[in-house]
Amino acid sequence: MSQLLEIEHLNIRFVNGGKETEVVSDLSLSLDRRETLGIVGESGSGKSVTSLSIMRLHPDETTRIKGAIRFEDKDLLALSEREMQDIRGNKIAMIFQEPMTSLNPIHTVGKQIAESVLLHSKATKKEAMARARQLLELCGIPDPDQRMKEYPHQLSGGMRQRVMIAIALACDPELLIADEPTTALDVTIQAQILELMKAIKKDRDMSIIMITHDLGIVYDFCDRVVVMYTGEVVESAPVKELFAAPLHPYTEGLIGALPRLGQPTERLSAIEGMVPDAGDMPQGCHFHPRCPYATERCRAEHPPLTTLPDGRQVRCFRGKGEQ
Ligand SMILES: Nc1ncnc2c1ncn2[C@@H]1O[C@H](COP(=O)(O)OP(=O)(O)OP(=O)(O)O)[C@@H](O)[C@H]1O
Ligand SMILES: [Mg+2]
Repeated sequence: MSQLLEIEHLNIRFVNGGKETEVVSDLSLSLDRRETLGIVGESGSGKSVTSLSIMRLHPDETTRIKGAIRFEDKDLLALSEREMQDIRGNKIAMIFQEPMTSLNPIHTVGKQIAESVLLHSKATKKEAMARARQLLELCGIPDPDQRMKEYPHQLSGGMRQRVMIAIALACDPELLIADEPTTALDVTIQAQILELMKAIKKDRDMSIIMITHDLGIVYDFCDRVVVMYTGEVVESAPVKELFAAPLHPYTEGLIGALPRLGQPTERLSAIEGMVPDAGDMPQGCHFHPRCPYATERCRAEHPPLTTLPDGRQVRCFRGKGEQ
């Protein structure tokens, strides 16, 4: 497998009335071709901000981005807006949590998918409409001929998300970024959309970044996972290894908070405490106020992200066997 995406030392700051807040710090990650990478972390950990920076969707005036985001060896941060537009539709596609905000309410579903096809190929209008119908069918939408003529508000949430997936696939992307694609849906529909995404992953030569706060989805869907906390990577590992032996206490907490089959549904051990505010980070390790293993050193020193001999990464003094 060769590398498709490589993010190096990414720093993202938001500027607000002369005040800068760092929300992503020194984030590095890579993605191979055909690999599915999960990015997991509680609300506010910087998952969406990171994915929006890959698409370069942050406004220049209010955002300071440093580092490199290399895609097929081009640094996306150095491209012109025009070049970036080309990448956005043709090479990288994104689906969001709330499909209604990304669909145009005044155009039919058929027209919106066909437009995406037209933008990215030399198809005629008629061919684009035929392709749109095919994509709807591929995304498991019943009665595609009827759906083509309908408007987004006439569809259920699950159907709208299927339409968003169809639009994303219209350009045959090399990388699909899915930002919490199932969070807004009820549990049965969540499972169906995840099944659809699995089928697509199997059929296509595509890399996927799946952003979620749900480690269960990561377990089910991803090859490798990056765990984020307060804008930093705290652990990265192949999914099976992470579940077999989490190295960071935060990951351990996330796994402990997963509901288990055959056990009472109340959470067995949710992580206590709150994620600190971006403008009010604790000294030392950002996780120490919530960590059951925290020592004096954790309160004083910020642990670096360490790569272990087997390639796993962890940002914790214990992970290096130094406890
Ligand atoms: N445009 C913005 N201006 C200022 N701060 C922002 C902006 N967008 C996000 N943030 C802050 O950046 C941090 C990371 O936000 P982000 O949306 O990436 O979190 P997330 O991990 O995607 O969370 P969630 O699971 O809730 O989607 C948060 O503290 C958020 O308040
Ligand atoms: Mg988010």
